[in-house]
Amino acid sequence: MKIITAEFEKTAVDLKSCPAGERPEIALAGRSNVGKSSLLNKLVNRKGLARTSNTPGRTQAINFFLINGGFYLVDLPGYGYARVPVQVKAKWGPMVEKYLKERSQLKGVLQLVDVRHRPTEQDIQFYRWLLHFGLPAAVAVTKCDKLSRNQINKQIKIIKDALELKQEHPLVLFSALSGQGRDEIINIIEEMIGL
Ligand code: GTP
Ligand code: MG
Repeated sequence: MKIITAEFEKTAVDLKSCPAGERPEIALAGRSNVGKSSLLNKLVNRKGLARTSNTPGRTQAINFFLINGGFYLVDLPGYGYARVPVQVKAKWGPMVEKYLKERSQLKGVLQLVDVRHRPTEQDIQFYRWLLHFGLPAAVAVTKCDKLSRNQINKQIKIIKDALELKQEHPLVLFSALSGQGRDEIINIIEEMIGL
C-alpha cells in the first residue's frame, strides 16, 4: 500500500462524536510523549499533520486522520502523564476503554512503547485490554535512533517479557527520525484492515 493522501478529519471526545460510516480504522496508543503523533506523521510523510510536542499530554482527545480516502488512523490520547488535570485523567480510562470495546470500525491497535524504558504498569494494563477485547495488535518500539543496536536488543527482551507479548503480535523497531520500521508498520496496517 502506498499512502497518497492524508487529512485531518475530526476530533472526538466520546464514541458518539467519532466519524459515522463504515471505514475501517487503526488506532495508535501509548504513553504521553512516546511518539504517537510523530509516528503518524512519519507514516503519512507529513511533518505537521498530527501535532507533536515536547509537552506531554498534548493530545487529549481522539483524533481521526483519513488516509487515501479509505481508512482512518486514529491518534488516541496518551496515558500516564502526571501533570494532566485530574478530571481529564479520570475521563481517559472510561473513554478509551469504551472506544476499544464498542467501536466496530476498529480493526487493530498499534501500541507504542519507548525503546529506552521498561513498560509501565499502564503499558501492561493497556496491552491486557487489547488481549481482553481480542483486538488485532502490534507493538511499535519508538525512538530507536536514541540507542545502539546492542542496547536495543536488551530493551526488546525487557519489553517483551514485561508485556508477556504474544507470538501473534508483531514487534517493530521504529524511528520517526530515520523512518526505520515505517514500511513494516504500513504492511501491518494493511493486513489489519484487510486491504
Ligand atoms: P502525546 O500527544 O502527548 O500523547 O505525545 P505523543 O505520543 O503524540 O508524542 P509526540 O509524537 O508528540 O513526541 C513526543 C516527543 O518525542 C517530541 O519531542 C518528538 O519529537 C519526540 N520523538 C517522537 N518520536 C521520536 C523518534 O522516533 N526519535 C526521536 N529522537 N524523537 C522522537
Ligand atoms: Mg500526540
